[in-house]
Amino acid sequence: MFQKLKAPRKQQDGIMAMMRAVAADQRPSKVDLTVGLYKNELGQTPLMRAVRKADQELSHSRPNKAYVLPTGSPAFMSSMKQLAFGNDHNKWFIEGVQTPGASGALSLILKLVSYANPDAKVWVSDPTYLNHLPTIKAHQLDYGVHPYLDWQSMQFRRDEFHQWLATLGKSDVVIFHGSCHNPSGLKVDTNTLHAVADAAQKQGFFPIFDTAYQGLGDGVEQDAQGLRIVSEKVERLALSISCSKSFSLYSDRVGCAFVLGANQNEVDTAQAYLASYSRPTYWVPPNNGAEIVAKVLTTPTLKQEWQEELEEIRHRVQSLRHDLTLALQEHSDSPRFDYIKNNCGMFSMLPSTPEQMQHLREQYAIYGLMDGRINIAALKEVRIDYVAKCIDEVLHPKKFGSRPESRRGTNLNVSI
Ligand SMILES: Cc1ncc(COP(=O)(O)O)c(C=O)c1O
Repeated sequence: MFQKLKAPRKQQDGIMAMMRAVAADQRPSKVDLTVGLYKNELGQTPLMRAVRKADQELSHSRPNKAYVLPTGSPAFMSSMKQLAFGNDHNKWFIEGVQTPGASGALSLILKLVSYANPDAKVWVSDPTYLNHLPTIKAHQLDYGVHPYLDWQSMQFRRDEFHQWLATLGKSDVVIFHGSCHNPSGLKVDTNTLHAVADAAQKQGFFPIFDTAYQGLGDGVEQDAQGLRIVSEKVERLALSISCSKSFSLYSDRVGCAFVLGANQNEVDTAQAYLASYSRPTYWVPPNNGAEIVAKVLTTPTLKQEWQEELEEIRHRVQSLRHDLTLALQEHSDSPRFDYIKNNCGMFSMLPSTPEQMQHLREQYAIYGLMDGRINIAALKEVRIDYVAKCIDEVLHPKKFGSRPESRRGTNLNVSI
């Protein structure tokens, strides 16, 4: 069975390799900014208070752990619909399925796209979340990479983005990061969101929102703004949404896929396809975490407590951004890192080469991804000055030169 298998291409600098390297590094100065986990000042990834309470209550009261339907638990799905689309979501035709995380949701959505239109071309931003391209390729879909981040200034390539937007047509599909861009943390302004909505309406391309950080950018409601602005204009879109970060339920694999369509019949059909795709793989979704999320969102006291803690986390990450920016300003004696405080969510990128990231790792035990992504949400306040000093040391233009433009797209060469 396995004799003829060739080993898959190893990603020496991929996230798994980096996680192994971090674990093996015994230096006390080690700073791990690799994986997308929120960490508190003690370096721990806490289970949120309301989530723990809901979990404990359910462990006493749930009658069993019987299978749920392939579409998932109705209580979870309706709470998530409201969280994403808002209180007046009933004005739209929306149906969906519960999935193992947003990763499972995006995969089902892209399978539906490949069935509905095998000639579709799926666009992702340059750069994008490491799993986007492998997921698109797994469904044999054509793909393209659109302008997004200027790798020198770390600002939005607004003009090129708008020029590209104008070229889209009916067989194009675009994956937008619903809130907090991974890996750049770059915020897109409201005018651009309206331009996306207008273009999708006029030109008929299909938007997919991939939302993994609702509540960690500007707030729970604010972070759904892009999705809601586009939903007002278009007849059809899809959403994959994750509870990993915003409910601290990473390993429980909680998420869902939604489709918004022109009428009930259309979304019922799409939902039936999505549900059927889980049959040959995991059959019915995991429900432990989804039950916890439903309990939090449907119990007013728990919901309030969850929102308050999410706000605490959001403010803490913002303050880490602010302090890191100040420290970098001081060490570099320049405003070149000021974009970090204007980014949102867990990540920002350094204007670095892979060699510089390697140097940071080998010389100073500071671990980020090779494309320059660092997880600000894993920084400790007490390590900010050390991290800023080392980043300035390694990225100083006089030492290594600035990041060449040819670095564009460095995180897009991933294999599965
Ligand atoms: C844009 C994006 N989509 C999806 C995911 C994965 O979410 P999940 O853990 O729910 O599969 C992430 C990050 O982990 C992400 O950044």
